Amino acid sequence: MSKVTVIGAGNVGATVANVLAHKDIVNEVVLVDIVGDLAKGKALDTWQQAPIDHYSTQLTGTSDYTETANSDIVVITAGIPRKPGMSRDDLISTNANIVTSVVKSILEHSKNPIIIVVSNPLDVMTYAALKASGLDKTRVFGMAGILDTARYRAFLATELNVSPKDIQALLMGGHGDTMVPLPRYTTVAGIPVTELIDADKLDAIVERTKVGGGELVKLMGTSAWYAPGAAAAQMVESIVKNENRVFPVCAKLTGEYGLHDVFVGVPVKLGKNGIESIIEVKLNAAEKELLNQSAAAVKSVMDVFDNM
Ligand code: APR
Repeated sequence: MSKVTVIGAGNVGATVANVLAHKDIVNEVVLVDIVGDLAKGKALDTWQQAPIDHYSTQLTGTSDYTETANSDIVVITAGIPRKPGMSRDDLISTNANIVTSVVKSILEHSKNPIIIVVSNPLDVMTYAALKASGLDKTRVFGMAGILDTARYRAFLATELNVSPKDIQALLMGGHGDTMVPLPRYTTVAGIPVTELIDADKLDAIVERTKVGGGELVKLMGTSAWYAPGAAAAQMVESIVKNENRVFPVCAKLTGEYGLHDVFVGVPVKLGKNGIESIIEVKLNAAEKELLNQSAAAVKSVMDVFDNM
């Protein structure tokens, strides 16, 4: 059984801890926040939910990293969330400093953890975390693709009036407006989605997905947490249970898809060692071009970080 540390006990971090506890698949979840009492309070609240919802996962909250010792998996949600009108890139300097310091503190107490980054701007924060950690690239990666794909699937479920459970889809690229949805790889219970929906409606859903995060920021005045938290917890589950589930995950590419040293969403197998392998699907010329554009956009933000 595993120990999972979640850094940041805000909306997303607390949701990761809560969803993970409900899955009842790990021994222990440690919630860490610079505001220690917030972490303590949210951990205690979720622990008090255990008798009602029947799980045994122990939860503690702290601001003391010694309590994170020997974590198998660390989920980083620390940072400031995006405010209305703020692009993900505006967040870069503040959140990169936070992510870098968090990774250093974690590694003082855990030798070789798997690190899942959730803080935005996601692709660059994943880069910052890998750089600060010195760990293998298979052990440091980011959560974005599951969330973006879930938004896309939810919109399709509404439009087609079918269960979201039956919609399978793949999105690639950066976590932002340049993400690359792949309608060719979208099915409803195995039926190609293009047979069930008009091209213009599908295009509109793709466009809405690209700005799906911003839509929620506009509605709530801060970024989302239920679906992001559940998505990160699903990644933890695949690792803890060594499920080898196939998810789009933000990973460092070293030649895959013809891309080098850039962090973008690609389908991977997630198992006990983290990224067990990156799957290279066949893209047509138009899709490849979109992926290249997305990678170039991420690279330019990585350069901003490098020059900071
Ligand atoms: N160490 C630990 N916790 C920190 C640190 C730090 N150095 N800096 C900030 N935090 C904590 C804050 O105290 C706060 O409780 O991170 C938490 C962030 O929580 P929220 O403000 O509620 O933000 P949230 O909505 O959870 O989003 C967190 O995830 O999806 C992304 O864009 C989002 O980057 C943002 C992150």
